[in-house]
This record gives sequence, structure tokens and C-alpha cells, in this order.
Amino acid sequence: MNPTLWVWSMGAASEYWRSRKGFILAAIGSAIGLGNIWRFSWLTYRNGGGAFIIPYFIALIVVGVPLIILEFVLGNYFKGSSPKVFRKIREQFEVVGWIAIIDVFVIGLYYAVVLAWVLAYVGFSLTVAWGTVEGVGDLFNSLLGNPLLVGVTLAITWFITWLTVYKGIASGIERASLFAIPILWILSVALVIRGLTLPGSVEGINWYLTPNWAKLAEGKVWVDAFGQILFTLSVMAAPLVVYASYMPEKSELPNSAWITAFANCGFSFFFGFATWGIIGYLMQLQNVASPEQLGVPLGGGGLAFVTIPTAVTLLPGAPVSTMVFGTIFFVILWLAGYTSLISIVEPVYASFRDKFGVDRKTGVTVITLLSFILGLLFVFQPGLIDPVDFMAGSTNLIWVVFLEAVIAGYYFSLKKLRDYVNPYAELRLGPWFDVLIRYVAPIALVAILSYGLVTAGQMSPISAVVLIAIILASVVLAGMKWRGEEK
Ligand code: TRP
Repeated sequence: MNPTLWVWSMGAASEYWRSRKGFILAAIGSAIGLGNIWRFSWLTYRNGGGAFIIPYFIALIVVGVPLIILEFVLGNYFKGSSPKVFRKIREQFEVVGWIAIIDVFVIGLYYAVVLAWVLAYVGFSLTVAWGTVEGVGDLFNSLLGNPLLVGVTLAITWFITWLTVYKGIASGIERASLFAIPILWILSVALVIRGLTLPGSVEGINWYLTPNWAKLAEGKVWVDAFGQILFTLSVMAAPLVVYASYMPEKSELPNSAWITAFANCGFSFFFGFATWGIIGYLMQLQNVASPEQLGVPLGGGGLAFVTIPTAVTLLPGAPVSTMVFGTIFFVILWLAGYTSLISIVEPVYASFRDKFGVDRKTGVTVITLLSFILGLLFVFQPGLIDPVDFMAGSTNLIWVVFLEAVIAGYYFSLKKLRDYVNPYAELRLGPWFDVLIRYVAPIALVAILSYGLVTAGQMSPISAVVLIAIILASVVLAGMKWRGEEK
């Protein structure tokens, strides 16, 4: 039988998106997350401002877009999660799919804990709980030392995520995305307008975007650009593969990938104006000449939990404006992270469905419960988040995506995939696609991985344990008998 018909006839993916718009918004929801808000604009500033846009854009075109396209096409062609996709290419590659899935599961454990902090801060903003600027740091430290409160907001976060994924593709994930993503944009527009209209904002934007071309000679800048692209686009043989498996055959895929990529990167760039407008305002208030002299963190959790509360406390029109803009900021952050967390649970469930025939309700319930319980580790030990993220949320993405490109490029026919999508594509895939997947992306990924490992030196024992645990779990899962619908 023709392989397309044969895949179609097995009917494993019985769920579908209601619309292409729903699919694209869900993919954008996966992509836009904490990474866009607190990582992008800071990386840009640190790595040469406007000049950073160049390595970032190159990473987007050379690795980001081709891999989203590849993940969409593989998921749609093989109708399933990555263990199934890789198993169909070669039985022994199934383990690579599991590594991606277990890795994403681990990301979900600490990602949810950060969202739990964010949710607590939605409450803190509503009541301006930090009081004065002096109280900001104390409040964050007391939150980190309050496992009971974080445990409760973690439970709420997981409950809402569970409910969404439990309801399935169209009634759960699609609905949530159609609701959350437009709200996210509207609130972000409000925050950017507020940021840009503050006195001193232009000075902040200058720090954000003034190009420092000399930086482009530093390898670290390129590593940051490629690492950020993989993380921000959720390219990890997990969410995007399964999301595309719920599109019917003969769907448009390549242009959907371009739209996802540009919506995500455009959001990051746009949101940077809010962040840096606000930082410029702080600089003017405190009369300092450079952002470092502010003494507040410019990126990461510090930006969200220290700098933003500090800035909104000093807004004209406080305390009402503090409440309004503080709440808007943390609602944006939570919604962005929530649609990403959904996209972490779904592929984990889909993999167990494919391999063991687990039904959605049982699978999703067990996965979210287990994630909540294991995540408590990070509630009690927030210091573990960084070393675990270094492995699961950064290093592993690079080599797993490398294997993905090599497996698809050398052990399967990219021409077959192109012929499969091109009749329905708004932007057709030419042989350039094969060149990117077979040569350019793998070479770029190996280069940044080796450079990153040589220079970063962040390989702590905890990171090593995480790596070994993920590989062991994947080998065990891959070795178990395939009980789901066979091929
Ligand atoms: N893209 C998300 C962010 O920027 C994070 C994320 C969600 C992710 N799902 C993922 C990263 C899967 C890697 C793999 O915050």
C-alpha cells in the first residue's frame, strides 16, 4: 500500500484541531513562554544590542524554521509522538524520541514551579504586597522560603493545566490557545505603550538596541543566539511533532511553521520595548548612566520578581498604577507559561498513548500528578532549578535536535517529506530544505555544542545526574514492549 494511505488507515490519532488557526495558535502558545519575556531582551542587550538581531535571525533561518517545518511534517506524516516517529524510521531510534520526551517532562517540573511563583505574584500585585521598593527583595525571598504558599499556587497551576489537556485537543488545548494568546497580545500592547510613554524610556530602548558590532566576533554570542532559538521555538522533537499530528492529511504546514516562528520572535522583540522602556524610566529616576548601575537584575527571574515590581512601585499614579501594571505583567507571564506547560504535558501523554495504549484521561492525570509531586523538589530547593535547566532546558536541546536532523536527513527521505507536503503548501519546500537539514543545521548545532561545552564549564554534578537519569529512563522505556497500535 502507498505509505501515505497506510499511515492514514491506522487511525491512531483520532483527535483533530477544529481549525488551522487553532493549530497555529497552539503552536505559538507553546513557543511564547517565559523565555520570550525574561530571556530574549536581556540576551539581546548583553550580546551586542541591535547587532544580536543578526545571529538571532541567522539561527532562526538556519536552524529554527527548518526544524519547525521538519517537526510539523514528521508529526503529520507519521501521525504520532516522537518515539513513534523515530521508531518508524528505524526501530533502534525510538530511544531518541524518548530522550526528547523525558527531557521535556523534566523541563515541565521546574517550569511549573516558576509559574507557581508567577501566580503568587499575580496575587501580590493585586494587593501591592511588597509595599515599598524596599520590600521587593524581602518579599521574593520570603516566597522562596514559603513552600506552603508555592505548593498551593503550584497545585492551582497544575490543576488548570490538567483540566486543559484532559479535555483534549479541540475542547481543551485549542480553546485555551484561542483565548490566551489574543489576551496575551492585548495586555502586552498595553504594557509596551506604558513602557514607551514613560520618561526616560528612549534611553532604555537605546541600551536594548544600539548595535555593538564588535560583539559578533565572540563565539558566546552565537551560542546564545542558537540556544535561545531552540528554546523559544520549543523545537525539541516533542510539542510541535504531536501538535502537527492532529492536523488532518493534506494540510498546509510549511507556512504555518513560518507564521509560528515569526509570531514568536516578533513577540519577543516587541515585548522588549516594554521591559527596556521601564528600565529606562528607572535609570532616569535614579539618575544613573548605565543599566548595570541600577543594581537590579536585567534578565531571568530577577527581572520578573525584583526589577518589575520595583519599577511598577515607582510609576506615576501609584498605588493604583502599581496594581494595574504589576498585575498585567504577571498575568502576561502566567498565560505565556501556561500555554507552554500545556505543550509539555501533551507530547508526554501522546508518547505513552502511542506506545502503551494509555487513554487520555488516565495518562494526563498520572502525568500531571507525578509532575506536581516531583516538582515539589524545586519548591523546597529552588537552587536546583539552574543546574537542571542547564542540562534539560539548554544543552540537551542542542544534541537531541542534532540527532533529529541527522535521523530525518540521512535515514529517511526528505524528498518524500517534501512531496508529501508540497501539494498543499503555501510556501513550497525545495531542495534547499534538504541542504539545511542535512548539512547546515547539524554543523551549526555541533559547533555551538562543542563551543558551549568548552567555554561554559557549568557542568555541575547535578547537571550530570540529570543527563544520566534522562538517558536511563529513555533506554528503559524504549526497551519495553510496544503495546499500542503497531505501525
Ligand atoms: N518555548 C517555551 C519558552 O520560551 C519553553 C518551552 C515550552 C519548551 N515547551 C518546550 C522548550 C519544549 C523546549 C521544549 O518559554
